[in-house]
Amino acid sequence: MAEKMDAKLDYKNQQNEVVVDTNRKLRIGIIGCGWIAGAHLASYKKMPDVEIVAGCDLIPGKAAKFFKDGGVEGVKTDYASHKEMLDDESLQLDAVSICTYNRQHAGPAIYALQKGVNVMLEKPFTVTLDEAVEVMKAEKESGKVLSIGFQPRLDANMQMIKKIVDSGELGQVYYIQTGGGRRRGIPTPFGTTFIEDKTAGLGALADIGCYSLDMVLNAVGYPKPLTVTGYKSDFFGKDPATYPGHPEYADLFGVDDFAAAFVRLEGGIILDFRIAWAMNINTPGDTIILGTKAGLRIPSTDCWNGTVGGPMKIYKTIGGVDMEYEVPIIKDGGDLFDKKIRSFLDAVKYNKPAPVPSSQIIYNQAILDGIARSAKLGKEVKIQVPKI
Ligand SMILES: NC(=O)c1ccc[n+]([C@@H]2O[C@H](COP(=O)([O-])OP(=O)(O)OC[C@H]3O[C@@H](n4cnc5c(N)ncnc54)[C@H](O)[C@@H]3O)[C@@H](O)[C@H]2O)c1
Repeated sequence: MAEKMDAKLDYKNQQNEVVVDTNRKLRIGIIGCGWIAGAHLASYKKMPDVEIVAGCDLIPGKAAKFFKDGGVEGVKTDYASHKEMLDDESLQLDAVSICTYNRQHAGPAIYALQKGVNVMLEKPFTVTLDEAVEVMKAEKESGKVLSIGFQPRLDANMQMIKKIVDSGELGQVYYIQTGGGRRRGIPTPFGTTFIEDKTAGLGALADIGCYSLDMVLNAVGYPKPLTVTGYKSDFFGKDPATYPGHPEYADLFGVDDFAAAFVRLEGGIILDFRIAWAMNINTPGDTIILGTKAGLRIPSTDCWNGTVGGPMKIYKTIGGVDMEYEVPIIKDGGDLFDKKIRSFLDAVKYNKPAPVPSSQIIYNQAILDGIARSAKLGKEVKIQVPKI
């Protein structure tokens, strides 16, 4: 009876608070107990229908310390790998958060899905397109929920971009410029997992580039990418002066700190993209979406993390007069990570589609993969996403 009611549950009460049915608790595990796992843990702790039952990390003792520091007791952590944890049937896991570095996204995701466990996978989807395809195959075979960790999607201002495009006010969209970056912001606060090839695989391109791509591709309905000309560089990452106190990081740097691309999308849209962890300018430009009836400008942020940097503007000519409309910043409150975790849990509980589905993010990944391939070959490449 409770299950039946759940399926029709309206999540918001009259005060617009999220109503959570606690009749059924979801048993959650965390794979990879580093920096971002802390945000997952904090959100799971706020959910009254969650029991955090297990966690693991490749580094011995790290998972146990992570849960102790996080104030959660009774979590099983004596696993040497994600496989050992997922093989432990006594856990009866409903879902896992995969918070491992990029090169360890595909393996744990595939294994979890094969074990019939729902997956919240951190962004970027994977490192290569081939890996993402394998994850999607496992998802399809399992029938489980796989959601990719793009929490900026849940920001009301980001959602406004899609509403503006969907309203038709811009007319036919034909050109998009997107990207962003930091003047100096190579992420090494907790070591080198973001900058070593063996752990990260891709640098700024995937780390923050995936957000820029999601911002605009989601708005225009995730058209299929067709071709890409890409460029990557590592001038700052390879410079010991970039790391005061840790000049040795320069030798370990094996990814990109800047990337740019020209992408053709199905439907005749051109996508002009650039992204930087470090550069000698404040911003490589705002995001702009040009349509036949109007244009939209989305201000960039100093510390690019996939958000809207200020009030957006719509440019339109009416009766021969050039007009500008400001789209005010929407302050809807609420923590984006909480929303990300809640929407994933609801998808698991009520058999709803993944909040950020692989069927969209595969195109995001295909572009990242295309940029990396094109940069290596020094010429334009075709993007082919196999049918899954
Ligand atoms: N959504 C966001 O806002 C956001 C923010 C930061 C990072 N991230 C993403 O989260 C991922 C992790 O980033 P981080 O900053 O937490 O990195 P991190 O290096 O701090 O933590 C990763 C942890 O995963 C562990 N690990 C790796 N492979 C494992 C495996 N197979 N089994 C168990 N443990 C394993 C590592 O030992 C490490 O402790 C990255 O892919 C990153 O892009 C997302």
